[in-house]
Amino acid sequence: MAGAAGQQQWSSRWTFLLAAVGSAVGLGNIWKFPFEAGQGGGGAFVLVYLAFVFAVGLPVLMAELSLGRRGKMSPIGTMEKIAKEEGRSKAWSIIGWSGVVGGFIVISFYAVVGGWVLAYIVKAFSGFAGFDAAISTDTFVAYISDPVWPVVSQFAFIAITIGIVMRGVKGGLEKAVTYLMPALFALLLGLVIYSAINGAFAETLTFLFSPDFSKLTLDTVLNALGLAFFSLSLALGSIMTYGAYLTKDINIPRAAIAISLADSAVALMAGLAIFPIVFKYGLDPAGGGGLVFTTLPIAFGQMTGGIIVGVLFFFLLAVAAVTSAISLLEPAVSYVSERLGADRKKVTLYLGLAAFLLGTLSAWSQGGNILSDVKILGADIMGVKDYLTNNIMMPLGGMFIALFVGWFVSRKNMMEELAMEESTFRIWYFLVRFVCPTAIGAVFVSILYNTIVG
Ligand code: PFF
Repeated sequence: MAGAAGQQQWSSRWTFLLAAVGSAVGLGNIWKFPFEAGQGGGGAFVLVYLAFVFAVGLPVLMAELSLGRRGKMSPIGTMEKIAKEEGRSKAWSIIGWSGVVGGFIVISFYAVVGGWVLAYIVKAFSGFAGFDAAISTDTFVAYISDPVWPVVSQFAFIAITIGIVMRGVKGGLEKAVTYLMPALFALLLGLVIYSAINGAFAETLTFLFSPDFSKLTLDTVLNALGLAFFSLSLALGSIMTYGAYLTKDINIPRAAIAISLADSAVALMAGLAIFPIVFKYGLDPAGGGGLVFTTLPIAFGQMTGGIIVGVLFFFLLAVAAVTSAISLLEPAVSYVSERLGADRKKVTLYLGLAAFLLGTLSAWSQGGNILSDVKILGADIMGVKDYLTNNIMMPLGGMFIALFVGWFVSRKNMMEELAMEESTFRIWYFLVRFVCPTAIGAVFVSILYNTIVG
């Protein structure tokens, strides 16, 4: 399957929806959401995150899908083309550039965490019997601190992703998402029920759903904003590229609502499965990126059939991570093959390997690994990449997408692409013109103000 993005198409509405949900649902929901919610103090963070998902993320998601479908190229090609058609500056293609480059940076650390998940599939085969908070934490830290294995597992994760992207979105992706995404959903639900019965569920409900706004700082608000974008796969060109494979008969607003609902449901389910164990076993809710790897194994070690459930959970999480990673690599692949007219397979291979090499630095920056002492502005290498993409590039990218469709593309053209009733279109238009830019801008301005003045 060579050439530009527009040459591929989804085989049905359902597979598009699954693929988009596959892109959205991933480590962001199951690994990142719980630990960021934990660090952000719980309820208030969750509420702000959900507000950002629906008031800012959802309108931008609709914008990206419609830009993608209209442009039918890589994100850079699409932005250039639409800006030109609308008589606007070519500089708008910077949105596409930032997406392609940002996606590349994200995959370089995403694959490291994806590799940890693969390693945990293997660990799960021998079970987690007797795991308590201390053993679980030690096992995780020992793994991420090893100089060899995290790189091996990261490589395995990237290799799987490359293999699927090489075959093109239809060949590889559609099959993976048709059965496995619903299976993940069902398993997570099962885990929530297990945790509700066996864990500290009442405490979890209070923690996650009764907001204590005194715990909210500007930084946590920015984290929530970044996470809303990250978990919906926004502003990195992924959704725009998937939009390019869309046919006209798909109702973008409806699809976008379904994607956002599924995405936030999975994040909340992950929280509801994980925190009852955190509280029951006295783990630290703010313990950081190891949360999912240190909590659930304790439960798997205790439940009947825990080996099967554990293997299945990490396997399905790996699938969810791969279906997201594919969408991270795809924009760069579609751009390079579009520009150079180069063979898609080769481009995928080279870009994937380059992301792997860049990713080794992230792998070695974790735990007590060989680069863990390297700090930039207080953060390790992976933290820096995470902050740069999640908290800067994605929200700013989203702001410019909103500004572009709200103020620089003709209303009539947007109306046509989105095919909504005038009354609902008006709500969307208000959100992209005023709410998204103001909300994102306000977060940034306040942070800048605090840094300079405070
Ligand atoms: N949405 C994915 C997740 O939540 O794991 C990650 C992701 C994929 C982010 C694609 C951004 C992106 F463009």
